[in-house]
Amino acid sequence: MIVSESQWQKKNKAIIITGANGNVGSYFARKFLESDENLILLIHKSEQRLQSLQQKFTGNLRIIKVDLTDISLLQNKLSKVVEETGWQPDRLIHTATKRSHDFKPLADTDPELWKQIVLMNLVGAFNILKCVLPFFRKNEYGKIVLFGSNVTRIGLPKGSAYSAAKAGIANISRTLAAEEAKNNIIINTVSPGPIKIDDSQFSESYRKFREEYYNEKIRDIPLKRCASFDDLLGLCKFLLSKENSYITGEEFFITGGKI
Ligand SMILES: NC(=O)c1ccc[n+]([C@@H]2O[C@H](COP(=O)([O-])OP(=O)(O)OC[C@H]3O[C@@H](n4cnc5c(N)ncnc54)[C@H](OP(=O)(O)O)[C@@H]3O)[C@@H](O)[C@H]2O)c1
Repeated sequence: MIVSESQWQKKNKAIIITGANGNVGSYFARKFLESDENLILLIHKSEQRLQSLQQKFTGNLRIIKVDLTDISLLQNKLSKVVEETGWQPDRLIHTATKRSHDFKPLADTDPELWKQIVLMNLVGAFNILKCVLPFFRKNEYGKIVLFGSNVTRIGLPKGSAYSAAKAGIANISRTLAAEEAKNNIIINTVSPGPIKIDDSQFSESYRKFREEYYNEKIRDIPLKRCASFDDLLGLCKFLLSKENSYITGEEFFITGGKI
């Protein structure tokens, strides 16, 4: 049977999602698998949230366990999966992050921890972009969404490393949009305010800090609630779609009306 170009594209293209076992990453993975997309899911330590997906969507799904700060390993594992599957990655959703979980003011922060958080967020973003760009450039097509945060414009008391790194991510996407436009690669940052997530994996003290922070924030949000995963998904789907051929280098805030 001759496969038409549109069928071929559907069959072979793939989305790469980082932080795929995370709250947002695992929800997006499920939704894109239900839309019959091929997914390359990058996880770090845990894969607990992906277990049911692995059983249901075997053919459309590959999981890579890797620390994003290790570029050689990332490059090797990604190339291997692309070679084995014959998939052509054409979209990236980068959600992986490491938070300032010490919740201390900068003056009291351990310099080593500050460095680790910036490293994971910023160098991690650099590494995944460096590894996927060759695939996108080869096909002269690519769409990228990086996850920032509303803290890129309001800062985050007791979270200076995270807020600094997230602001850096938004600026990487502005820069890359200009550098890669000639290769038909489009990149944007999605910056949510508080998201309703499962926080059971956090320590008791960090959970308490988040709860107090979010309760205070919600008072100032005109729509009076945190973002749901679907609030994020709609925008991301559009930014990654063929319909988006002109919006690039932007940062989109999803904050229920809070500036
Ligand atoms: N949740 C919110 O309220 C909120 C608000 C604003 C912005 N955001 C942003 O939205 C995005 C998604 O948030 P989320 O709540 O879904 O995050 P999450 O649940 O904490 O997921 C983050 C993921 O990143 C992975 N990760 C951590 N270090 C890594 C490393 N070195 N290499 C590879 N992966 C690593 C973690 O894997 P392991 O757990 O296995 O280490 C985890 O699965 C993030 O970029 C976050 O900054 C979230």
